[in-house]
Amino acid sequence: GQLAGESADTVRRQLDLVETRLLEASRGRTALVSEKSGHIISAGGKRFRPLLVLLASHFGAPAAEIDEDRLIDAAVVVELTHVASLYHDDVMDEAELRRGAPSANSRWGNLQAILIGDLLFARASSVVSALGTEYVKIQADTFARLVHGQLAETVGPADGGDPLAHYLQVVSDKTASLIATSARFGAMVSGASAAVVEALTEFGEVIGTAFQLSDDIIDVTSDTTGKVPGIDLREGIPTLPTLLLGDAAEDLELRAMIAEDLSEDAKLAEVLQRLRAHPVIDKARAEVARRADQARALLEPLPPGDSRDALFALCDQVVTRTS
Ligand code: FPP
Ligand code: MG
Ligand code: MG
Repeated sequence: GQLAGESADTVRRQLDLVETRLLEASRGRTALVSEKSGHIISAGGKRFRPLLVLLASHFGAPAAEIDEDRLIDAAVVVELTHVASLYHDDVMDEAELRRGAPSANSRWGNLQAILIGDLLFARASSVVSALGTEYVKIQADTFARLVHGQLAETVGPADGGDPLAHYLQVVSDKTASLIATSARFGAMVSGASAAVVEALTEFGEVIGTAFQLSDDIIDVTSDTTGKVPGIDLREGIPTLPTLLLGDAAEDLELRAMIAEDLSEDAKLAEVLQRLRAHPVIDKARAEVARRADQARALLEPLPPGDSRDALFALCDQVVTRTS
């Protein structure tokens, strides 16, 4: 990242604290439950949300005046919520792999995976209670947005509705909401001004949308995500690359293939190969870049320095990441 010297050391140390507390908070009553509830956390992950909490805390009170326990708690809350939702998401998506490891549902079945997700969500609620009712309300509202996003994805657009607009609403709710909350929590814990809290929340919403759009492109283009590629295609869930297909003959042909039953591996591989070679991928990438630019613009009013540069660097990473 962009952070230099002491500041970078602090963020690294705080991320280590987040790691320890995450495992503590996810622990179950028995070793067997703990193995399951620590499964996704132990598999690693980018810790994008905790990092955003930490970086967003650099725009309020000086570091020495920030209550670090509260900051770490805030980072743990958003990551636990995220991980909880992944247990449920993998059940809904019938996903076999997550972060390069067999998903919880494939190891222990859907019923246990759902209950482990519930346990982690309960733990997130417990941790957030220490931060105060203002945080509890934001967390609850964010959770509701996750659920609405996931429901809307499942149900699909209304008859005559615009599928792209529907998709973008889903992305905003199921992903950007929690990333916006991550930035908001960091800013709040640091006692930042209302204007800074709003700017960082809006930044989180926009970069969070870009993050999910790039995730959906990578689902098509990459074989090294630690997930099975083409899951959305197989499940018949339209995402940015397929939604941007036009009406040219080649596009219509590809659309027809996408609409077919892709449960057979060879069939899915063929569609993936065609889509990867199609100019729509560049079009989708341009859409991610455009949003990253929007996110950068939202940072302009913040005080310049290493911390703002680190957020700019996050924007770059969302555009350039390949897994
Ligand atoms: C991943 O999307 C899924 C989400 C970002 C949100 C999932 C939300 C829920 C299941 C509802 C909330 C539940 C709890 C317990 C908080 P994806 O399937 O596109 O991403 P992937 O490629 O990582 O699987
Ligand atoms: Mg999924
Ligand atoms: Mg999903």
